[in-house]
Amino acid sequence: MNAKLICWLIYLRKVVLSMDEIQNRKLHHIRLALDPRVDFKDHCSEIYREIQLVHQALPGLDFDEVDVKQVFLGYRLEAPIMITGMTGGHPSLVSINKMLATLAEKKRVAIGVGSQRAIVKSNFSEDVVASYRIVRETARSVPVIGNIGLNTLRDIDTDTVIRLVEVIDADAIAIHLNPAQEVIQPEGDTRFSLDVMDKVKELIASLRKPVIIKEVGNGLSMETVRVFHNIGVKIYDTAGACGTNWALVETLRNQPGSSRYECGLKLSEWGIPTPLSVIETRYVAEDSFIIASGGVWDGFKAAVNIAIGADMVGVAKPILKNILDNGLERAEAYLDNYIFELKTAMFLSGARNIGELRSKPIILGQKIVNMMLQRGIDPHTYLNNTRRMK
Ligand SMILES: Cc1cc2nc3c(=O)[nH]c(=O)nc-3n(C[C@H](O)[C@H](O)[C@H](O)COP(=O)(O)O)c2cc1C
Repeated sequence: MNAKLICWLIYLRKVVLSMDEIQNRKLHHIRLALDPRVDFKDHCSEIYREIQLVHQALPGLDFDEVDVKQVFLGYRLEAPIMITGMTGGHPSLVSINKMLATLAEKKRVAIGVGSQRAIVKSNFSEDVVASYRIVRETARSVPVIGNIGLNTLRDIDTDTVIRLVEVIDADAIAIHLNPAQEVIQPEGDTRFSLDVMDKVKELIASLRKPVIIKEVGNGLSMETVRVFHNIGVKIYDTAGACGTNWALVETLRNQPGSSRYECGLKLSEWGIPTPLSVIETRYVAEDSFIIASGGVWDGFKAAVNIAIGADMVGVAKPILKNILDNGLERAEAYLDNYIFELKTAMFLSGARNIGELRSKPIILGQKIVNMMLQRGIDPHTYLNNTRRMK
């Protein structure tokens, strides 16, 4: 064998090994993320008790008049819901992405794909791309959102990101920020310095579609949102600390007793609860479209998050879990119940549509008022003006 051929074989082996590593990590992540031990404690029930929509004994409308439609990225959705990005990159994930997309198309809700890093790593290999593209092929009449980590963005050029959007015919791309996950992940990438912002700016200028900034479950703060809002980002997905906890998912991938394992356990309550993350995001991005996600797992929580300032909600784990444990029908029933609960909360608050829900009275508990004051947000101004902006 000549030297060139040996080098080529070594290179190929490296590519195949790194592919397997990312694909297998995705499968491992899915298995662990579905474990209830990795959820935030009580799913923030204490915070939700602090935000009350006021019951109206005379709602002033019939239940059938309640309209939960929402417009997102130019599509008219039947409900203000997005199935947020989870999967793709492994042949066995084609069928899962197909089921998620079938659900999104049937219920007319938005859908995201999981991190497209595997496409980059595979050098746009056809079967890897296909595991994501199935989402658009199945969900033709709803928004499809691409997905890339901030650190992957750091390492690739803007044309490659544009290609990632094109190969799956996405309507936008979400850039995920996940420092708590990366710091606990055994193979984590903890580069989160601001020099990446030039890349984000370049992407915003070159991509003819919107860029969305999302967390993965520890919440967006006003400081983080301000950095992106200043360069023109107008869509945010809070992914607050009330649902799936990715630091805990990664903890379970470490050896008990190791620094990462012990530290990860201590992050079990770390982060910004979803409704607070919505408030912080709206406070600095009044003109933006805000998706409240992170444990927004029923229609009442959805109503609270919209009333407090969101335009839409995002759900990840319960949908995937329903599909994997019980099949598509159960997942559909879950969404039907969810929408019925949202409509009921709106009816009982006297809100005819999503816009009206944002102006209905809310009573805040002392704890949440204190948190807002400490963050420099005047609760009165926020409730009477800011949350209703846009
Ligand atoms: C199995 C699974 C895989 C996920 N993969 C990704 C991903 O690749 N990219 C991303 O931005 N978020 C990913 N997420 C995070 C979700 O999009 C969402 O932000 C987070 O789980 C909070 O929502 P939830 O509490 O409804 O699960 C994943 C979540 C789950 C459950």
